[in-house]
Amino acid sequence: MIALGCDHGGYALMQEVKQHLDEQKIAYKDFGTYNGEESVDYPDFAHKVVKAILSGECEKGILICGTGIGISMAANRFKGIRAALCTDCYMAQKTREHNDANILAMGGRVIGGGLACQITDTFLNTPFSEGERHKRRIQKIEDTDI
Ligand code: RB5
Repeated sequence: MIALGCDHGGYALMQEVKQHLDEQKIAYKDFGTYNGEESVDYPDFAHKVVKAILSGECEKGILICGTGIGISMAANRFKGIRAALCTDCYMAQKTREHNDANILAMGGRVIGGGLACQITDTFLNTPFSEGERHKRRIQKIEDTDI
């Protein structure tokens, strides 16, 4: 199950991503916003998706705001969350292989629907490489307590 969340800046792009997931029969839970372009606060939707992942209800998430920056920053405040802002398929592939990212963030005012759907496919279909060095580095992120 994929958790979806967006603000008004990501709403239109999220509708395209949802249609793409529907076409592939990929199950998702949409945590909103449900109010189209009406202004909302992106941390509220990042937090809903983070909770769904940390509780085990959802395995991965997709977050979209205007740039993808604010909503990924909000998500990355939580231990166990690795949100990656991706603007191309290479980034989506590498963040799965090297960072075991569990949230894909994108910018609704940055990329178009065709690219967003390809990035989504790459993110969802690329496994973590499991290399020792990648595990060690991710563990250092998780252990950070400064
Ligand atoms: C909303 O206007 C915008 O600030 C938000 O969608 C996002 O781009 C923040 O990082």
